Amino acid sequence: MIWNLGSINIDNFYEVSHLPAAGETLAASSFGFGLGGKGANMSVAAARAAARVAHIGAVGAEGRWTRERLMEYGVDTPHIAELDIPTGHANIVVEQGGENNIVLFQGANVHLSEAIIGGALTEASPKDFLLMQNETNGQEYAATTAQALGLRVAYAAAPFEEDAITRLLGRIDILVLNEVEASQLETATGKDIAALGVPDVVVTLGQNGCKWVSSAGEKQFPAYPAEAVDTTGAGDTFTGYLVAGLDRGMDMESAIDLALKAGAMMVMRRGTADVIPDLKEIQDRFGL
Ligand code: RIB
Repeated sequence: MIWNLGSINIDNFYEVSHLPAAGETLAASSFGFGLGGKGANMSVAAARAAARVAHIGAVGAEGRWTRERLMEYGVDTPHIAELDIPTGHANIVVEQGGENNIVLFQGANVHLSEAIIGGALTEASPKDFLLMQNETNGQEYAATTAQALGLRVAYAAAPFEEDAITRLLGRIDILVLNEVEASQLETATGKDIAALGVPDVVVTLGQNGCKWVSSAGEKQFPAYPAEAVDTTGAGDTFTGYLVAGLDRGMDMESAIDLALKAGAMMVMRRGTADVIPDLKEIQDRFGL
């Protein structure tokens, strides 16, 4: 089972001809909104990858529908608190080539109490996964508690923040990050990724696939071909599928392969949690 301490956002999408420059006012050619947040995206991806996943998070009253939608997507929601604080939201601007920029309002995501997090984790079993990203508070407490309870801890270092990740080193079993974040981390720690003391590090490389760094060395995995229209949420889909695969007993290489397929399908879609592919769609396109 996966316990995902993660953000829940209302994602607002604006399609534009180009990303706006400083001071520029730009009309969007379309607007839509849906469920998002790196945490919610990962929970949905893990559920679509056939894992059992319980989300630990918080929303405001006006965002109650996001919790209901997570439940409809097969995610356990009893540990999502409703607070007297607005739900997090993200304004996502996507240009025709698929590049984006995002303005984030953290809202309820950063007001989680230790009681909410600890209360959820007391229901976990040894060898379950705690999954986290860097869009909520409480990561250090959650990782320490999970470690004491014998859970495996997986962390996606996004959005990257030097302090957040360095505080967690020593408490993480699996670290997922992109190339830029990996080099930021190497600069911050003065250490090579392989020397961080994290047993498994997966570095995503966009169109070049990913690499897995472990005590056995470094292994590269090529990407599956994809015509990208929107890369938003593709990394979250990759991580959700990766951890779901491991939770379901796959070895790392098979879980990475599945996650790469899911990520490749996701970049061909516009949107976030609501459009994450399920196992059947991946099988139909790539085989499993
Ligand atoms: O990674 C994509 C996500 O980042 C979006 O769903 C948005 O909510 C932001 O958190």
